[in-house]
Amino acid sequence: MIFKNNLLPKNLQQYEKLYKQSIDNPELFWTDVAESFIWKSKWSKVVDFDFSKPSFKWFTDAKLNITENCLDRHVEAHPDKTAIIFEPNDPNQPAEHISYRELHSRVCKFSNVLKNNNIQKGDRVCIYLPMVPELAIAVLACARVGAIHSVVFAGFSSSALSARINDASCKMVLTSDGSFRGNKTIDLKSIVDEALKDCDCVDSVIVLNRINSGITLNKNEKWWNDELDKVDDYFPAEIMDSEDPLFILYTSGSTGKPKGMVHSSGGYMVYTAYSFKNVFDYDDDDIYWCTADIGWITGHSYIVYGPLLNGATTMMFEGVPSYPDFGRFWEICEKHKVNQFYTAPTAIRALAKHPLDFVNKYDLSSLKVLGTVGEPINEEAWNWYNENIGKNKCPIVDTWWQTETGGIMITSLANVTEGKPTFATKPMMGIQPVLFDENGNEFDDNNKNGILGIKYPWPSIARTIYGDHERYKNVYFSAYPGYYFPGDGAFRDEYGNYRITGRVDDVVIVSGHNLGTAPIEDVINMHDNVVESALVGYPHDIKGNALYAFVILKDDSKKDDIEVEINKLISKTIGPIAKPEKIQLVPGLPKTRSGKIMRRILRKIASGEKDNFGDISTLLNPEIVEQIVEGSQ
Ligand code: PRX
Repeated sequence: MIFKNNLLPKNLQQYEKLYKQSIDNPELFWTDVAESFIWKSKWSKVVDFDFSKPSFKWFTDAKLNITENCLDRHVEAHPDKTAIIFEPNDPNQPAEHISYRELHSRVCKFSNVLKNNNIQKGDRVCIYLPMVPELAIAVLACARVGAIHSVVFAGFSSSALSARINDASCKMVLTSDGSFRGNKTIDLKSIVDEALKDCDCVDSVIVLNRINSGITLNKNEKWWNDELDKVDDYFPAEIMDSEDPLFILYTSGSTGKPKGMVHSSGGYMVYTAYSFKNVFDYDDDDIYWCTADIGWITGHSYIVYGPLLNGATTMMFEGVPSYPDFGRFWEICEKHKVNQFYTAPTAIRALAKHPLDFVNKYDLSSLKVLGTVGEPINEEAWNWYNENIGKNKCPIVDTWWQTETGGIMITSLANVTEGKPTFATKPMMGIQPVLFDENGNEFDDNNKNGILGIKYPWPSIARTIYGDHERYKNVYFSAYPGYYFPGDGAFRDEYGNYRITGRVDDVVIVSGHNLGTAPIEDVINMHDNVVESALVGYPHDIKGNALYAFVILKDDSKKDDIEVEINKLISKTIGPIAKPEKIQLVPGLPKTRSGKIMRRILRKIASGEKDNFGDISTLLNPEIVEQIVEGSQ
């Protein structure tokens, strides 16, 4: 265990006491937490910040390499302990158990591969890989070399990939010949080939043979294993400054191109490790499983860094919950005796639709803690999870956080503070949530809805948007000067528990994925036969929210294949996750006199409302509302 007992509250009173200390004297508190890690040299100042710039520095001047904390220290303490359990897509293939010693050796070897291919401290490396151990190894090798990894979820399309590669000017791309997903194989390499047609910044591509597809490589491309054959496993970690960027991870904004959130080395390390330990109540011999993909922040912080920093055993699953059948998650829990299980509400809702036999034929008695992330969990799904998976004995931690926050912000702490269905509950130590009313004034009363803000910085706050600090300032720090504005609404009950009520901007969370509506509208509008479109979210019983597109055509006589064509265009430009559930062709869109689309009305229509649209007489074209309602699905 890396943390001293006084940093790990055991009950509500201890949490309250520690929380108070963390707020009253953040510098002292975070010094104590940071002392738990191995630093090459310590900080001159704990925190230095200015919300108006904005600028956040944690552990100024300290030197470290996060991989020494993830690997070297555990190789010394428990070399044979399993670091990663890899459960492949095919249940008939054996799982792989990678010890800390082996992981260290494989990371050092791949660090040498990066060095041999001219990757140096500060270079950006794009990683576009399926959920195989090499993905975690590549991430850690970048960190060891001091290169900045930019992992792109391997479900994104070639244009989304090239946009991300170009935005960060990545020098190298790490990928595989393909991936397995359920009973399908996906040809990742041709997506990369297509993307690279537009990327002049890339010097080299290293390709893992995952599916034996028999492809031949292009010029400047090398096979992963050939490169590994050339190197040994000695690689001293690069010395990094606490504020040196560790990685870039893209998240959608409500408008414009995706935002490359930049995370730091020191602060990110301290916060992800500390939150992991406290939220999940991880014990040294536990088996922890987070079902996310490393392509998202959840995978970065709570599959790779948080668990490994704690010397934990973390599982990576390559497949999908529905293959070979809807019992796969539970089969894996039984097989590996999983103790902590962390997933998304959308997965719970999808699995809850199927007969309980898929759950009940497995022994889930090893489970101690359940978690959810990514979107609000509705009461029905919470109850199903609690009763059927947790058997009413596992605390459920509903963890609210974001790509931008780096780590979990509002949550219950397993076996310490109480969960409450549909509430993320209380702030983590060091986190100061506040609520604002519609006039932008902070208020203290409870049992009220408001807009969420965060008052004081925490170590893993993203430091900037890569290449666009102005946008970082505008999106997160302008609405409420002196606060971080996450873009979510929240309700606070009389005990200080927070329930996240959803986005207050034009971001829609679909199956736990953050999707900006404007960038998808831009893609729909690219279709030759589209005049204009408006996209809104509406409640969906499995996905949480789904997208509903209202589209005006230039030529109605050419509408036969329009849905298929729009969906194809979106899949190609962004990725299949951004496809709307419904597309309605409309003669016009409700607009204000200044020409702004009244999305409020469209949201109601998409949710199935037929009237009660309020006063629409001020619209430029009030008659359009009825016409849209008539054609709604
Ligand atoms: O709206 C909130 C929702 O997901 C958004 C962040 O999305 P992303 O950056 O992709 O990160 C997801 C994984 C951390 C938030 O602004 N969200 C996340 N967790 C919760 C949530 N909404 C309600 N409850 C949660 N537990």
